[in-house]
Amino acid sequence: MSDSLPAIQEHTDLTPYNTLHVTAKAKKFVSVQSEQQLQSLLKNYDGTLPLFVLGGGSNVLFINDFNGLILHIAILGKEVIKEDENYIWLKVGAGENWHETVRYCVEKGWGGIENLSLIPGTVGAAPIQNIGAYGVELDEVFESLAAVELKSVSSRIFYKKDCEFAYRDSVFKQELKGQFAVTSVTLKLSKYPVLNTSYGAIQQKLDEKEITAPSIRDISDIVIEIRNSKLPDPAELGNAGSFFKNPVIGNEKFESLKSEYPSAPGYPMDDNQTKVPAGWLIEQAGWKGKVTGSVGTYRQQALVIVNHGGASGEEIWQLAEKIQQSVDEMFDIKLVPEVNIVG
Ligand code: FAD
Ligand code: EPU
Repeated sequence: MSDSLPAIQEHTDLTPYNTLHVTAKAKKFVSVQSEQQLQSLLKNYDGTLPLFVLGGGSNVLFINDFNGLILHIAILGKEVIKEDENYIWLKVGAGENWHETVRYCVEKGWGGIENLSLIPGTVGAAPIQNIGAYGVELDEVFESLAAVELKSVSSRIFYKKDCEFAYRDSVFKQELKGQFAVTSVTLKLSKYPVLNTSYGAIQQKLDEKEITAPSIRDISDIVIEIRNSKLPDPAELGNAGSFFKNPVIGNEKFESLKSEYPSAPGYPMDDNQTKVPAGWLIEQAGWKGKVTGSVGTYRQQALVIVNHGGASGEEIWQLAEKIQQSVDEMFDIKLVPEVNIVG
C-alpha cells in the first residue's frame, strides 16, 4: 500500500460511482487507499473547492455536476484487535464492502450483523446513517470508528456515545455533517450470537423452511432472500433503496389517520410516537409504480425511486419533491429524504 499522493483526476464521470446511475461529473476526483494517503492529500490541498466524501454511492443523489473534489474512500483491511471469551472486536477498513464483511463474519460464526446482509455500500458509510434492517441497527454492534477531520487533518476516535445514533441518523448527518472522513469502523461481534427473528418475515421464512434451530447463516440467507424479492438490484435498475425515512408521528395523529384509513400500518416507537411506513403513504397518494419520463417509483415498493435509464439528478429530485408535496397535502405529513442530496 502506497502512502504517496494519489493521482487526482479531472472531470470524472460519476455514473459508475452512484447506484441511482445519475450521469454527473465531478470537477476533481481522487481515490484514497490508506489513512496516510488521505492525510497527505488533505495537507497538500489548497482548500479552494468543496470536498465530498464518497463510499459506494448507494445513498447519494447528485442533482448537478459536483464542482469540487470527491474523496472516494477505498481503504481496505480487516483485523481482530481484541478478543475475550464472548466477543470479537473486528476493525474494518472504511472502503470494505459492507455485505462482504457481513458474510465474512457469518462464515467465522461471529454474530450481530447477519440481519444487515445485502445492504449495499461501504463499511465507512454504515455509521453515517446508522444502517438498519430487519430489526437490527448498526449501533447495536458498534464499538468505535476512526476518522480524519477534513479541515484540521487530525485523527479522532468516536465511541458510541459520541455518534448520537438514532433511526437513520447520527452526529455525522447533523452537527458534524461533511466534516469527517471515516477511515475504519470497529465492530463488537458475539461468539455466542443471540438471534433476532423479531421481524415478522424472518420467522415466517424459518417456519416455511422448517428451521427450528437457526444459525446466523440461516438468518443471513433468509434476509438475502427477502430483500431480493422486495428491492430492485441497483446493477439492473438504478435506485438508492428507501428514498425517504419512515416518518415518526404522535399517537394522536396516528389515531386520526387510522380513523380515516383503518388499514394504515404503524409501529409504536414509545408511549407517544408511531412510525408510519412512508411506502404506504406514497402508495395511497397514487405514486406506486408510476413512471414519468425515465423516473418512477418501484412497482413492488413505492418508497424506492428508480431510474429507468438516463434520468438526470434533477428529474429524480423533481419527482421526490412532487411525492413530498402530495403526501403532505393528503396526510399533513412531511417526508424527509433518507438519501443524501448533493448539489
Ligand atoms: P455513499 O452513498 O457513498 O454515502 C452516503 C453518505 O455517507 C454520504 O453523505 C457520504 O458523504 C457519507 N460517507 C460515505 N462514506 C463515508 C466515509 N468513509 N466517511 C465519512 N462519510 C462517508 N440503508 C439502510 O440503512 N438499510 C437498508 O436496508 C438499506 N437498503 C438499501 C437497499 C438498496 C438497494 C440500496 C441501493 C440502498 C440501501 N440502503 C439501505 C442505503 C445505503 O446502502 C446505506 O446508506 C449505505 O450505508 C451507504 O453506503 P455507501 O458506501 O454507498 O455510501
Ligand atoms: N408498504 C406499502 N406499500 C409499499 C411499500 C410498503 O403499503 O409500496 C407498507 C406495507 O404495509 C409494508 C410496510 O410498508 O408492510 C413496510 O414495508 P417494508 O417491509 O418494505 O419496509 P420499509 O419500512 O419500506 C424499511 C427500511 C428499509 C429496510 C426495511 C427492512 C426505512 C426508510 N426503510 O423499509 O431500509 O430494508 O425496512 O427492515 O426505514 C433503506 O434504508 O434504504 C432501506 C431499504
